[in-house]
Amino acid sequence: MTQPADAEPTPEDNRAPEDNRASETNRAPEAAAEGSRVAVTYLRESSPRWNRARFRKVLEAPVDPAELAEIGRRRIALRHYAPAPLHPSYAGQYHAGGGAEGQVTADLLSVSPAYGAVLYNLARSIDAKLLVENGAGFGISSMYLAAAARRAEGGTLLSFEISDYAQIAQASVNLVDPGSRVVQGDFACFPGHLAGTAAIDLAFIDAMHDKDSMLRAFKSLIGWMAPQSIIIVDDLYYSESSREGFRCMMRMELHDFVCIVNKRFGVLIKG
Ligand SMILES: C[S@@+](CC[C@H](N)C(=O)[O-])C[C@H]1O[C@@H](n2cnc3c(N)ncnc32)[C@H](O)[C@@H]1O
Repeated sequence: MTQPADAEPTPEDNRAPEDNRASETNRAPEAAAEGSRVAVTYLRESSPRWNRARFRKVLEAPVDPAELAEIGRRRIALRHYAPAPLHPSYAGQYHAGGGAEGQVTADLLSVSPAYGAVLYNLARSIDAKLLVENGAGFGISSMYLAAAARRAEGGTLLSFEISDYAQIAQASVNLVDPGSRVVQGDFACFPGHLAGTAAIDLAFIDAMHDKDSMLRAFKSLIGWMAPQSIIIVDDLYYSESSREGFRCMMRMELHDFVCIVNKRFGVLIKG
């Protein structure tokens, strides 16, 4: 069953969205929604492995607070860092979370604990071993992905951050999984960091939120994704361009289960 990517949530799944950016605790999104369930818009449901029930179970899986405790502490520690300039490639472009002079902080850029838990739970649901990220920021989303990698045997995160604060992101990741890496550089370089036989289990795209950039990242991943892999795209409702970017990804028909979480995360699952 396929619906257009801009379909409104069906009544059954149209539950109040949540956004708890200010929260400091790592909670499952169900709890973060303060009693209301997370809204999921299902766009394609032709997978033999994934259905609404499984997806919701994954979304709402309780996360052991001890598993992610370091992330809450790191969020607080990062508040003591001076705002950092956005990379020059953003020149003149508005960026979600960008301050008036293009200065950004971890609080402005990072996923909230609830969305971080979604990343973690989706990665754990497939026991993801090789995870890649486009846009580490200060390493908060990376920490959730690295925490999932730490749980998988031989798991590792390979993340890319084009700005100087990639080093801060690496320091964040080190607190969770020192074997995971944040490379300072353009995501376009990721193939050079992988063995030719590598298969990516989970990719998180959270860099430039315009159609062309999103599609460039998506297309570069295609030949690398494992048979039952997941791609998560952040900030779909940032702009019409980002929504169109996601619609184009869907139209390529490479994924069997596609949905949007809270009008924010686009989730594309193979197999
Ligand atoms: C929204 S922030 C990422 C936030 C991070 N994912 C989190 O939730 O903690 C987007 C980041 O992508 C980075 N970026 C933009 N284009 C990039 C590229 N081509 N390769 C790597 N990073 C890029 C930006 O410098 C910015 O820090």
